[in-house]
Amino acid sequence: MAVVPQTIGILTAGGDSPGLNAAIRAVGKAAKRAYGMHVIGFRDGFRGLMQNRFVRLDDETLSGILTKGGTILGTSREKVQKMDVGNGKPMDMRPMIKKVVEQHDLAALVCLGGGGTHKNALRLLEAGLPVITLPKTIDNDVWGTDISFGFDTALGIATEAVDRLHSTAHSHHRIMVVEVMGHNAGWLALGAGLAGGADVVLTPEIPYEVESVAESILQRKAGGSSFSIVVVSEGAMSTAERAEHDRLRQAVDEAKDDQAEDAARIVFAKFEEARSRSTEEMAERIEGLTGLEARVTILGHVQRGGTPSPSDRVLATRLGTACADAIAAGELGTMIAARGEGAEPVPLKDVAGKRKTVPPGHPWLASARSLGVNLGD
Ligand code: F6P
Repeated sequence: MAVVPQTIGILTAGGDSPGLNAAIRAVGKAAKRAYGMHVIGFRDGFRGLMQNRFVRLDDETLSGILTKGGTILGTSREKVQKMDVGNGKPMDMRPMIKKVVEQHDLAALVCLGGGGTHKNALRLLEAGLPVITLPKTIDNDVWGTDISFGFDTALGIATEAVDRLHSTAHSHHRIMVVEVMGHNAGWLALGAGLAGGADVVLTPEIPYEVESVAESILQRKAGGSSFSIVVVSEGAMSTAERAEHDRLRQAVDEAKDDQAEDAARIVFAKFEEARSRSTEEMAERIEGLTGLEARVTILGHVQRGGTPSPSDRVLATRLGTACADAIAAGELGTMIAARGEGAEPVPLKDVAGKRKTVPPGHPWLASARSLGVNLGD
């Protein structure tokens, strides 16, 4: 009796990230070549999956994408259990998604993404779907993996920006404040700060005192350095902001009913919105405290764009091929994590809902402190 080839589906979700296409290519090519599987891709993340919008990932489609930025499949940020379907009432779309997966008789649904994607993947796994994931994010905050693809490329872009700001800072004797992405983790800021020789690095993990930052800049000036580079993570907060943030967050978490929770969420969202100008405000305060001129650069989405670095291509490729092996071995319900030079399946329930932030005493922090980099504390 002829053996029917298995079919697997791939989707990309959350913010796009360099290396996604390299990973799609690696999973797809390895699944086809080594295991004779059929491969399809769902468009625009979990929304496209729910709507059964898919494309066959044949040899031609998988060719020539290794070096491309973004994702050929498209992406979206959705919650599978609370999806906006246009009637103003978010709906649980897991039953619809289950039907789509059954219709294609998928042996595996491969979800490439970060924190939000892992929560969705776990929800689908709990609904009985054959899910497996790969860690992608420029923030490097996925729990359970040494590193995520996208991070190295973004780090390169942020570092190049710091390098370029150095020459203009030096020429004008200015303070250059550069805001990098990273969500609530400081990996990008700390990495770019170390690689670019920043004088101050502010991360979400270490609440800062602007007086401490200003003092370190004045000390540099007294020592003959007329310019300073401050790398600040978008999630960095002063000690006062951190206390307020935690208080408002606690109010959301401890709300006694849905109505109270909605009200607490509105207050929290307003606080977060006001924080979107916090880097400019901090720069103004530094100017006031030091009497030196400051300029702000917000790198934004440029950090996610363009071709993946060689390291990200290699990482996405080795995790992608390991993913195809794991599917063939039946290791579903897992994330294929990077471990040293290899790859290991980690149970999804150990990954979803957690965030890998920079731990106190991390070697990068220790190196920064040894060099006299001000970390805001
Ligand atoms: O998670 C990746 C990331 O780029 C974060 O660093 C950033 O906070 C966020 O996405 C931006 O999201 P969006 O592209 O939806 O504005």
